[in-house]
Amino acid sequence: MDRVQCVASVSKEAKTIPADFIRSVNEQPGITTFHGPVPEVPVVDMANKNRDQIIAEIVKASEEWGIFQAVNHGIPPEAIQQLQRVGREFFELPQEEKEKVAMVPGQLEGYGTKMTSKQEGPKNWVDFLFNNIWPPSQINYDFWPKNPPDYRNANEEYVKYMIPLVDQLLEYLSLGLGLDGNVLKAASGGDDLRYLLKINYYPPCPCPDLALGVPAHTDMSAITLLVPNEVQGLQVFKDDHWINAKYIPNAMIIHIGDQIEILSNGKYKSVLHRSTVKKDETRMSWPVFCEPPADTVIGPLPQFVSDNNPAKFKAKKYKDYQYCKLNKIPQ
Ligand code: SIN
Ligand code: FE2
Repeated sequence: MDRVQCVASVSKEAKTIPADFIRSVNEQPGITTFHGPVPEVPVVDMANKNRDQIIAEIVKASEEWGIFQAVNHGIPPEAIQQLQRVGREFFELPQEEKEKVAMVPGQLEGYGTKMTSKQEGPKNWVDFLFNNIWPPSQINYDFWPKNPPDYRNANEEYVKYMIPLVDQLLEYLSLGLGLDGNVLKAASGGDDLRYLLKINYYPPCPCPDLALGVPAHTDMSAITLLVPNEVQGLQVFKDDHWINAKYIPNAMIIHIGDQIEILSNGKYKSVLHRSTVKKDETRMSWPVFCEPPADTVIGPLPQFVSDNNPAKFKAKKYKDYQYCKLNKIPQ
């Protein structure tokens, strides 16, 4: 299996990339990135003394964008830096060491590269590592790298700080819909909400205008919390344009995922986004997907469905939603 990291080292010498990474003209970032004057992805100060203002800003961002950058969110910068260091050290290990935690068929965890068939279109310029990090019943340490030795500790620290932030975000999103604060969390699985960490590793790419890291998609999670490294690359589709999300040190990027869009019957938007790559720099990002347990049925909350406002989405088990999304079956 050719990891993109290996393809990249050959491509660097050749100064070109294999044809199967080249996007069609309507996807190429060199052509489709908007450089005109654009609004910035909203920034929300979570330490604002005025809670109503925080909620109002989150509601506006979630309705108009489906994404915002949270600052002063309470996760210590050291916890983020440790998470990033161990992830970077893992990807810098010799190839055979990384392959020790390679994904195996039928499993959704481990080190991997997306296999793309010809019909599915071009390949993504990215390798990744998936690990379930919460709750403890979902953790399978067989897929957690033993090297670097503090990988486990750094991830455990990070998730410990992340849980109260996720709870707070779901509470504010609930209150912003006029619901009791616990409704969205309860509907998404309560304390059984699952946290899936993905580490994206985008090696330098000689032709960054022609390739994409991850092509346009919405996240199927309830909500995603992401930290990138300092190399810009996240793009958001807004008002018919692909625009760059600015890098803000220590900010958490919050994506509204499909499940919150569905629960809110479309009031909150699941954001369409993609990632680009750089010529001389390695980009990395650490999204944590907060997902309902597999058998949780998600559909528009009854409070948002009426004769005048019919359900915009079908109710279904999260595992069925996931199956349809991964296999590109209309929902
Ligand atoms: C993704 O949405 O899958 C990746 C986003 C990023 O790397 O910033
Ligand atoms: Fe995403």
